[in-house]
Amino acid sequence: MAKIAIMGFGTVGAGVAEVARRNQEIIARRLGEEVYVKYILDVRDFAGSPYADRMIKDFSVIENDPEVEVVVESIGGAKVALDFTRRALLAGKHVVTSNKELVATHGRELLEIAREKNVNYLFEASVGGGIPVLRPLFQCLAGNEIEEIYGILNGTTNYILTRMVQGGISFADALKEAQAKGYAEKDPTADVEGIDAGRKICILSDLAWGKEVSPADISMEGISSIHLTDVDIAAAAGYRVKLLGRAMRLENGKQAAYVAPHLVSISCPIATVDDVFNGIMIRGNAVGDVMFYGRGAGDLPTASAVMGDVIDAVQHREKRRNLGWSQGAALVSAAELPMKWYLRGNFSLDDARTVCGQAEELRTGAVITGAMTETQAKAAAGKLGAVSMLRVL
Ligand code: HSE
Repeated sequence: MAKIAIMGFGTVGAGVAEVARRNQEIIARRLGEEVYVKYILDVRDFAGSPYADRMIKDFSVIENDPEVEVVVESIGGAKVALDFTRRALLAGKHVVTSNKELVATHGRELLEIAREKNVNYLFEASVGGGIPVLRPLFQCLAGNEIEEIYGILNGTTNYILTRMVQGGISFADALKEAQAKGYAEKDPTADVEGIDAGRKICILSDLAWGKEVSPADISMEGISSIHLTDVDIAAAAGYRVKLLGRAMRLENGKQAAYVAPHLVSISCPIATVDDVFNGIMIRGNAVGDVMFYGRGAGDLPTASAVMGDVIDAVQHREKRRNLGWSQGAALVSAAELPMKWYLRGNFSLDDARTVCGQAEELRTGAVITGAMTETQAKAAAGKLGAVSMLRVL
């Protein structure tokens, strides 16, 4: 029997306990032994909980119990979670997490401790919730040079953008709706300003190219200043506005990563990923494009990924998974990447062609330019008096 402890009994932690209970038999059959939740750590009291007999408030109980093999960290944030994860790894326990902030900011150090202690630190649920994407990236696609990764990595903002295009409502109203449905938090900053997607694209980059890309090193732009007018013009012309995380390897061996809203043609499958769903495209030099789609958040989808990692950790208890990345990514700023731009303002197509060289009209006063850097696009937007500018995938 594999005994585990869950730290943090919020949405994800409770989901993991539920999956362990509901799928107890099938997990035992697949693993060859039962997974038993021995402790649940939380500072709060949960009167009447069916797990009341396993609730504890003192982390050292887990740390000092040799029977606990795997610790699920679903506390969130990078303070208490960092301290407890370090201590659990140092105590020789495998740690599994859904905590993207912690993995993106301290993953390298934690994986190094895991290597020294010969245990696993696994985090499939930290990107794409229930979507299997990290294991396919580091295992099934390991024979490829990864060229590019892009996708919708945040469900809350995708719900807001979907409601704007389908419901014809403003960003502010769509955000209120998302909050009423429990998708967006009371303080939605991390989601709507692209920070959550930024952490996830950093984790994908770390795994794809083996060099640490910190959230602090990349530009993150969210959707709070997206106008309904631009969403509507894009939709009428066959595009969807989507918040994308993007990471790529450049020909000079350098790499880039950023988060920003983009116009995506509806001929691209990523444009059809709606509501709270996530979609991630990975391009390998042997496989070509592979797309991953599914529920990027929620208690049971996230717990599904966590439980998969728990099972994997137990299966790799003797010979740990070889995961990790080093420092020293050679990063190119997103502002230097040439790409097409959407510009809107009170200008003619001729004006746009004179200033940008190349321009395709979506509607009077709304064009898509040829490829240029952000600096060039900003200069062109300034000359044309554009009121909106967005990247085009
Ligand atoms: N706030 C995140 C989202 C939760 O909306 O996608 C999952 O990471």
